[in-house]
This record gives sequence, structure tokens and C-alpha cells, in this order.
Amino acid sequence: MSAFISQHPNNVGRCSHISNASYAVSSGERGKHIGEQLVKDYLSKAKQLGFRILQFNAVVESNIHARHLYERLGFVQLGTIPGGFRTKDGHYVNICPYYHTLD
Ligand SMILES: CC(C)(COP(=O)(O)OP(=O)(O)OC[C@H]1O[C@@H](n2cnc3c(N)ncnc32)[C@H](O)[C@@H]1OP(=O)(O)O)[C@@H](O)C(=O)NCCC(=O)NCCS
Repeated sequence: MSAFISQHPNNVGRCSHISNASYAVSSGERGKHIGEQLVKDYLSKAKQLGFRILQFNAVVESNIHARHLYERLGFVQLGTIPGGFRTKDGHYVNICPYYHTLD
């Protein structure tokens, strides 16, 4: 498998119209716009499913490839959560939440 996507409501109840999704492309296949196609496809699919917003909760600040991709597709950064992500070796690094409305 060269790509993985997980998609689900970001929250329950009165925020259940916000979708969340996660993406991963195999390391040897990155930079070929597979991720771009996956995100673009889900932007329209999520709208069809009735979601109104797509939100990414935990984009690591140093993940410049992912952040550049999301910003190129019109995602808006909501700020920075200091130390919001714990790395495998136990360090805490900043995360940047992003959202995209599904007009
Ligand atoms: C984020 C991710 C899904 C993007 O998938 P992708 O198929 O590489 O994405 P794209 O090719 O559409 O775009 C990636 C951008 O980084 C650039 N890039 C160049 N070399 C790259 C590389 N080795 N790896 C990733 N991106 C690279 C691409 O050219 C593109 O830049 P551009 O916008 O200037 O054209 C993929 O890098 C990945 O699986 N990363 C590890 C898991 C991860 O971080 N997931 C996201 C969590 S928020």
C-alpha cells in the first residue's frame, strides 16, 4: 500500500459536522502529489458526506511538506499549540491546527 487515509468526525454532538482526516504516503512515493490528490478528493467527498469543515488537529510544526501542501490547498492555520505533540523519544514539539471550510 502506498497511501493511507483515515477520516471520521472530529467531535460529537453539535460539532459533529467537522470532519477530521489523517494522511500518510509511503516514504518512497512522497513528493509526487499523491497526498495532494488524496486531500483534494476528500475535500469534495467530505462535503458530499454532509460535513461543513475539514480540520486537522495535530500538524507538527516542523512537518513543512505537509504544512506547505495544506496551505497550498487553502487550509487556514489556527495558531500554534506549544508542546502539543509528544515524540517517540519523549520530547514535546509544537503543533499547528488547520481548517478548511467546505463551501
Ligand atoms: C504529508 C504527506 C501525506 C504528503 O504526501 P505527498 O504525496 O508527499 O504530498 P505532495 O507530493 O502532494 O506534496 C508534498 C510537498 O512536499 C514536496 N516534497 C518534496 N520532496 C518531498 C518528500 N521527500 N517528501 C514529502 N514531500 C516532498 C512536494 O514537492 C510538495 O511540495 P510543493 O507543494 O512545493 O509541490 C506525506 O509527506 C507523508 O505521508 N508524510 C508522513 C506522514 C505525515 O506527516 N502525514 C501528515 C500528518 S499531518
